[in-house]
Amino acid sequence: MRISIGCDHGGIGLKGELVTLLQEMGHEVDDKGCFAAESVDYPDFAKAVCAQVQNGECERGILICGTGVGMSMVANRFNGIRAGLCNELFTARMSREHNDANVLCLGARVVGPGLAAEIVRAWVTTEFAGGRHQRRIAMF
Ligand code: RB5
Repeated sequence: MRISIGCDHGGIGLKGELVTLLQEMGHEVDDKGCFAAESVDYPDFAKAVCAQVQNGECERGILICGTGVGMSMVANRFNGIRAGLCNELFTARMSREHNDANVLCLGARVVGPGLAAEIVRAWVTTEFAGGRHQRRIAMF
């Protein structure tokens, strides 16, 4: 699958690890930055990733900031984007199974790299269950 990824300065270290993980899993990753440790504004990167998911260039997106909160607030303002802030495994699985989340938001200052990797593995591999959940996501 083609996955767009972006972060602010708070998520840059974790982004690098997740890009490697996703590539090892066989995915194609489009890295929209940031690429340096200087302070940047997370909305710029959320917009770049969400645009790629909206226009179909990428099937899914992953956004990382300090908490994941800012990224998720921005991402959910885009039509067609269903972003879930998932800093633990259960929510990551459910955000796919029940909500068909197409953007995953992570807090690099909340989760360690090991947990983040498990969250990404679960989120990327869990299928949407459809059925009554399809009706619900069609309501917004
Ligand atoms: C940056 O310091 C921090 O505010 C940002 O990474 C994020 O946590 C915002 O939601």
